[in-house]
Amino acid sequence: VLCWFYVFPVYRLPSDKEIVEEVLRQGEEWQKNQTGIDLYRKLLSECCDPKRMFAVTKENSPVGKVLWYDGEFYYSHTVNNNTYSLFVQENPLQLPLKKCAVVGNGGILRHSKCGRDIDQADFVMRCNLPPISKEYAEDVGAKTHLVTANPSIIEKRFQSLLWSRKDFVDSMKVYGSSYIYMPAFSMRPGTDPSLRAYYTLADSSSNLTMLFANPEFLRTVGKFWKSHGVHARRLSTGLFLVSLALGLCEEVTTYGFWPFSVDLDQRPVSHHYYDNILPYKWFHAMPEEFVQLWHLHKSGTLRVRVGRCA
Ligand code: CDP
Repeated sequence: VLCWFYVFPVYRLPSDKEIVEEVLRQGEEWQKNQTGIDLYRKLLSECCDPKRMFAVTKENSPVGKVLWYDGEFYYSHTVNNNTYSLFVQENPLQLPLKKCAVVGNGGILRHSKCGRDIDQADFVMRCNLPPISKEYAEDVGAKTHLVTANPSIIEKRFQSLLWSRKDFVDSMKVYGSSYIYMPAFSMRPGTDPSLRAYYTLADSSSNLTMLFANPEFLRTVGKFWKSHGVHARRLSTGLFLVSLALGLCEEVTTYGFWPFSVDLDQRPVSHHYYDNILPYKWFHAMPEEFVQLWHLHKSGTLRVRVGRCA
């Protein structure tokens, strides 16, 4: 009798348990592989040109340029004098970045004591305006050089900035003088809150610099990972940042990427280091993404930290 999977061979994602076992087998052992690093930098610059394209700039988006939203069908924004004036001149980052830490928001960071390691990096990237108050510093560090902000956070946490803006300005102070990276041209309802966030920071003489994510970059990075077997409707913020880091940094270490419900000692672990609100199920494919990260870890292209740092 033929089993159906002999007739229709399908790629099967390993189960969570299998992934945990595989990570345990490998342990924290890691060896840097310069060839792998160079290869991924080359692949990413060929597909997505992160150096030039990661943000919307005056250089890559002159007046009249049509920005096609990457999270929508057939919706675009044509750059006009108003929007053009909000763009930075060109990529403002001092390249190449040396050691980069990409910090995901996974609950695995809790009690990890990875804060010092993270703060030792030359460039620290974080996702979705996470809390980094004193209470968390030992585990997640205190430094930030780039932090993403999804427009939905502006809507939910700061009432779309239609009322008091002080709360937003005060909350941003923990990120010092970092870049705030917003996908302003990804989904239609996200544009206005993103522009309001820009004006709010500008009007309060904040030290933060707003960078709008370039939808063309987000689209090409999405395609890149699709061709590597990540089939989510949309990549997670974390994987976008890892891709950016692989393109711009000499060495990349990730922290807080662990989309599983138990840790390496089989103890329950919350989804985030600060809460346990689970993601909308079918939107991202985080375990599938983790398999890719782990593959890069094993090949020495980047280092994935999942256990304790100290
Ligand atoms: O809202 P979104 O799913 O984009 O991200 P988040 O929950 O704020 O977490 C930031 C990033 O950390 C995610 O995009 C994932 O890449 C990563 N993450 C993870 O790998 N494992 C978790 N348990 C939670 C987040």
